[in-house]
Amino acid sequence: MTTVAETKRSTPGRIRTCDRRFRKPLLYPLSYGRNQGRVVSGRQRDDAPGRIRTCGLRFRKPPLYPPELRARLACDAPILLRMAVRCQPRDAEAFFAKRQRLVFSANPTTTRCKLSLLDRVAVVTGGSRGIGRAIVGELAALGFSVVVNYRSDAEAAESSCREAAARGAPAQLAIQADVASLEQGESLLRQTLDHFGRVDFWVNNAGMAPEVRRDVLETTPESWDRVLGANLRGPFFLTQRVARQMLAQRDAGVVTDPQIVFITSISSRFASTGRAEYCVSKSGMSMVAQLFASRLADSGIRVFEIRPGIIATDMTGPVKEQYDRRIADGLVPIRRWGTPEDVGKAVASLASNSFPFSTGEVIHVDGGLHLRRL
Ligand SMILES: NC(=O)c1ccc[n+]([C@@H]2O[C@H](COP(=O)([O-])OP(=O)(O)OC[C@H]3O[C@@H](n4cnc5c(N)ncnc54)[C@H](OP(=O)(O)O)[C@@H]3O)[C@@H](O)[C@H]2O)c1
Repeated sequence: MTTVAETKRSTPGRIRTCDRRFRKPLLYPLSYGRNQGRVVSGRQRDDAPGRIRTCGLRFRKPPLYPPELRARLACDAPILLRMAVRCQPRDAEAFFAKRQRLVFSANPTTTRCKLSLLDRVAVVTGGSRGIGRAIVGELAALGFSVVVNYRSDAEAAESSCREAAARGAPAQLAIQADVASLEQGESLLRQTLDHFGRVDFWVNNAGMAPEVRRDVLETTPESWDRVLGANLRGPFFLTQRVARQMLAQRDAGVVTDPQIVFITSISSRFASTGRAEYCVSKSGMSMVAQLFASRLADSGIRVFEIRPGIIATDMTGPVKEQYDRRIADGLVPIRRWGTPEDVGKAVASLASNSFPFSTGEVIHVDGGLHLRRL
């Protein structure tokens, strides 16, 4: 094995390695070094067991580390980041304070590449069930660390996190926050940054239908406020906050290709007289997507709208029989229900950067339901 001592002759400032299997900067937990019977850095020998250590003093590229350590390393992203910004390992408080400064006013010469040591981070609002959960799974499979936001069902959120881990997410975190509340939306973003230090991909998915379907002549102000609060007002101001964060990250050179996705609905365009407040909220959200796409295009932040049709989830459970009949009668040209995975795959194609010269696009995931036919 090559050790640090053996690589001392490397050019000053170049990245060092302490194991010939690693050709890029090496980050691994102390226990790994011990298990392998190697001490990799005398400088940090007294680190707490389990802490991630480094033997290189400068990091210029993302690390390559063994797969078996990848999950553990990524689970402790703040520790990675602490190393990346070269804070003293024991001074956690200073690290957190410093990290916030870095995220907002980073000095590109010292942080650009270092912050990219972390895995990309995706946040999915309403990621615990239905469409959001499928999106979480697809993003996990792409290697994103995922934040699963939920409002009330903590168990479902934990289950979604476990699924994300099984599908390959380096790290997962469930965060309770009602996106209708501006304070809780702010807290969702803050907790994400506290844990991961960055956000690369934001999916505004959480949404609700009216508790009771009423004719448009009977829509109540209470239901209006409730649905528009969760589906439009809250997500608008949350996205405003996320966009500012992404702009700051862009200025700091922390992330590349950040994206924001809105999950709207066929109801953005189709009038359902039995749920006016839902249609208005989704129609408004479609405009919000256009607004942010226009505002952020020249900043390298791309924004997309995904417009699902009739998707089999808890939300459509109460009207299942009605739609079974209508789909069989040809309402949907591709004669079947949509699945959450159909939407998840569309989001994954955006997250894979399959549309690098597009923004503001509306992607229908509706089996052709939006087509005007004679
Ligand atoms: N299903 C369809 O046919 C369809 C079609 C077009 C568009 N959509 C849209 O797709 C999105 C997801 O729908 P879905 O069918 O997957 O719904 P769903 O099965 O009812 O799941 C809703 C998810 O959103 C969360 N959520 C609801 N209100 C929230 C709030 N105020 N704050 C934070 N999280 C909240 C829920 O968390 P808790 O369980 O913890 O409350 C849950 O994770 C919605 O925006 C919906 O309008 C659905």
